[in-house]
Amino acid sequence: MPQSFDRTVKIAPSILSADFANFGEEIRAIEAQGADWIHVDVMDGHFVPNLTFGPPAVKAFRPHVKSVMDVHLMISPVDPYIDAYAEAGADVLTAHVEAGPHIHRTLQAIRAAGMKAGVALNPGTPAEAVAHLLDLADLVCVMTVNPGFGGQKFIDMSAKIRALRTMIGDRPVHIEIDGGVDPSTAPLVVAAGADVLVAGSAVFRGGSVDAPEIYGTNIAAIRAAATA
Ligand code: DX5
Ligand code: ZN
Repeated sequence: MPQSFDRTVKIAPSILSADFANFGEEIRAIEAQGADWIHVDVMDGHFVPNLTFGPPAVKAFRPHVKSVMDVHLMISPVDPYIDAYAEAGADVLTAHVEAGPHIHRTLQAIRAAGMKAGVALNPGTPAEAVAHLLDLADLVCVMTVNPGFGGQKFIDMSAKIRALRTMIGDRPVHIEIDGGVDPSTAPLVVAAGADVLVAGSAVFRGGSVDAPEIYGTNIAAIRAAATA
């Protein structure tokens, strides 16, 4: 992960919407077509009502990721697995503030394991929940859907994003938006202060490894809308 920090808009396609039988090729395709980060959605079937993949799969993705592997843990508990995701090669590891009673310690442990630390907020969780974590986090992920699935309807969290942007001030902390991001919603969240945009269905829609240029068109459309 680049050590320098900037708030230029970054598009982070979520491979939850990729072909599950072809992750390596899909990752290479979206990076070739303009993805800035690769968003990896880990789900445990407990914290969220869906199950995806764990450390062995994330380790298998790593050689195909040339940019940033942004791992979103929708799991509880988190702490027992931090070292496994560090070993798997995660650049950013994001835990949900709702995943347990010791998020402060979790973020310390993620950084101690050599990764950038992210903290995620479900739609029902106020921005104030991270007020005492902003010097321990490199990223705050604002969920704009209830986690567990791709392709859901965007929930407008503009007021929360604005509040977070004020709380963060000039700290080198990204605001990442996750869920329902597409060319119609991207401008809203960037105007409110977000800089990393996760998009799954809006990127993979209509494309395939045999037609990767559609991924490029989709990514460019989100970026153009976000930066207009
Ligand atoms: C949902 C995941 C999101 C999701 C985004 O729990 O955290 O990253 O894959 O998918 P879209 O962009 O289709 O809402
Ligand atoms: Zn996610």
